[in-house]
Amino acid sequence: MNKILVIHGPNLNLLGTRESNIYGKVTLDEINKTLLKVAQQNDIELIIIQSNHEGEIVDKIGRSKEGGIAVILINPAAYTHTSVAIRDAIAAVNIPAVEIHLSNIYAREEFRHNSLIAPVSHGQISGFGAESYYLGLKAAINLIKGEAK
Ligand code: DQA
Repeated sequence: MNKILVIHGPNLNLLGTRESNIYGKVTLDEINKTLLKVAQQNDIELIIIQSNHEGEIVDKIGRSKEGGIAVILINPAAYTHTSVAIRDAIAAVNIPAVEIHLSNIYAREEFRHNSLIAPVSHGQISGFGAESYYLGLKAAINLIKGEAK
């Protein structure tokens, strides 16, 4: 069975209560449940992690090749804008990554406009709330099925 690694970065465990005017009221648990359901319908195994620690995320990405991961779906959260280490890990494993943001990072503070992850990602989805994850999963599945370029 094809495997997709889903990585939720720092503070996304607080979704539902965290700045709900920006991120909405949906919880991470609810997002994960929907992702798992869609994955199951498509015969895809999802491995889902949330971490507030950069090194842990780097380790997970670094081990994804030996874990047989086909695509990485990642919301790097604040590390989007700061983490050379996560960027380098994605480049190192050479597995297609789909970058996700709930909010439109380009419509927010200037420090959020630059993503260090985008240049090493296959593509980015930003600004659709929880729907960004579902669109991202669809894109990841299409990559696996060879229906995307
Ligand atoms: C975010 C956007 C980031 O700028 C922010 O630091 C986050 C969440 C988003 O999903 O919109 O934590 O990645």
